[in-house]
Amino acid sequence: MNIQAPLPLLAGLSPTQFMRRHWQKKPLLVRQALPGIKSPLSRSEFARLAASEDVESRLVSAFENRWALYPGPVAKLPPFSKPGWTLLIQGLEQHLPAAAELLDQFRFVPEARLDDLMISYATDGGGVGPHFDSYDVFLIQVQGQRRWRIGRQPDAQMRDDVPLKIIKNFEPEQEFVLDAGDMLYLPPGWAHDGVAVGECMTCSVGFRTPWRAELAKDLLSRLMDDEDQAYANRMYADPKQEATETPGLVPDQLLAFARDAAERALREPRALERALGEALTEPKPRVWFEAGAEYQPDQAVRLDRRSRMMYDKAHVFINGESFRAGGRDATLMRALADSKVLTRKQVGQLSEGARELLAQWVEDGWVQNEAEQG
Ligand code: SIN
Ligand code: CO
Repeated sequence: MNIQAPLPLLAGLSPTQFMRRHWQKKPLLVRQALPGIKSPLSRSEFARLAASEDVESRLVSAFENRWALYPGPVAKLPPFSKPGWTLLIQGLEQHLPAAAELLDQFRFVPEARLDDLMISYATDGGGVGPHFDSYDVFLIQVQGQRRWRIGRQPDAQMRDDVPLKIIKNFEPEQEFVLDAGDMLYLPPGWAHDGVAVGECMTCSVGFRTPWRAELAKDLLSRLMDDEDQAYANRMYADPKQEATETPGLVPDQLLAFARDAAERALREPRALERALGEALTEPKPRVWFEAGAEYQPDQAVRLDRRSRMMYDKAHVFINGESFRAGGRDATLMRALADSKVLTRKQVGQLSEGARELLAQWVEDGWVQNEAEQG
């Protein structure tokens, strides 16, 4: 992607300008960001997906002003003729190639930040109420119209009488009605409320902003799993413990033991890098790959749309696993992570070991062989 070229998607800004001026800073409304865009699925396909165990979905309704939330799978929907409800599906890119292609337009943002593509269907007046997200989000209107009201609202209070996170004292500063093809970018922490004007569908391209504590917890548990077993299984010993008159006091020696265990895991060369890459590429709980394809050695390959692949200076990460890579293999694997494809010629340049790995990924359904185009 040419990150200097102005894009209609970003109201004529280049990705570079967009990231400097708006990303994490201020909203951007883009009229006709994606002219002619069609919803990646029909109303009935929507209902069918939401009824499946393999799909993360939820139904939200506000009939007679009473908010209700039904976690999926959603077997039965209110009538399409009834106003005031909405059905939401997370991770649509795992289920539909067209949804994965929509995400590809946003590859000027690091993949590590990408969470997923959510889609909502709503009847007239439907929505999830005024709320905050801890996400950067591109809200794309793909069918019908939705009225968005947004504001910064540092003094927001949350309602405690409803099963959703809804702001009690919402005070919007701006209001826009989005038509199909229009898009609104919101940084995290902007209060927003989108209400369907007639029947509509909206896609949300969401970018996760990890919380320090959550990330640290995940990384530390991965580091401990990775630990050298001989060391990790060492048991605390205190043969010199004296009789105590203060049994409530935590012994200093136990604190030193705990500190050493945590610090040693962090000191391990490249261990933190590995844990981070594995955490960032870990497939979500409902992701299944179609295993069993046979590897064709002389063909181009493409990353499966469900695969997450990233790299750092010393490793390649794919779907929660890490591999050391250097030299030409590293250059080629990085190209696969960045562009999601390797041409036949590039595959031919891989070392034998790297090609064996690729064959394994094809068998696992993480990567697919592809007859070269053009
Ligand atoms: C929706 O599509 O109804 C909700 C999207 C959001 O507010 O994050
Ligand atoms: Co939101």
